[in-house]
Amino acid sequence: MLQKAYSAEKAAAYAYIGHAGSIKSLKKKKEIKQIEDDEWSHREEVFKIMNTYNIKASVYYEFKYALIGKVIAFSCYIIGWFMPYYFAGKLESGNVCEYFIILKYFQKIGINSHDKELFEMGVKEKEHEDYFLNEIKDSKLMPIFQKLFFWGKSNSYNDVNLNELKSIENSNEYCEDYRKID
Ligand SMILES: [Fe+2]
Ligand SMILES: [Fe+2]
Repeated sequence: MLQKAYSAEKAAAYAYIGHAGSIKSLKKKKEIKQIEDDEWSHREEVFKIMNTYNIKASVYYEFKYALIGKVIAFSCYIIGWFMPYYFAGKLESGNVCEYFIILKYFQKIGINSHDKELFEMGVKEKEHEDYFLNEIKDSKLMPIFQKLFFWGKSNSYNDVNLNELKSIENSNEYCEDYRKID
């Protein structure tokens, strides 16, 4: 899961470079650039955890996710404004639990030294999800996309609510029966 998260962060960062490049608004470019930077720092953070346990990056994931990121980045220029926001939001929605589940697994084997970083990364992905959702929630396309792709205003891949955030100690209550999207 760490190897996958490490590589997927790169895919996300690449995708956001394309997304920011494809939109006109300077303000939104900046906001998405900030999210890109968040993903790079997540990647560093995950790498540190991997190093602690001598886990190497997966060559396969590195290649696969670099390709995915580049394809998404390119597609942002041709699929209109709505879809890059929508699929970014959907992806972020799935990423939230990835970190909370890694946190749980560590706790299960008695390792608590990464709790804070993993918790904060999960929360940050939730902020990203909310950002993208907020950009498109009133679009006419939202209802149909939500039906087709199972994410939107009333559909999330996690049960995290930033307005009533649980403490790190209780964060193992999150993501009990949330399945990851792939
Ligand atoms: Fe991330
Ligand atoms: Fe993110």
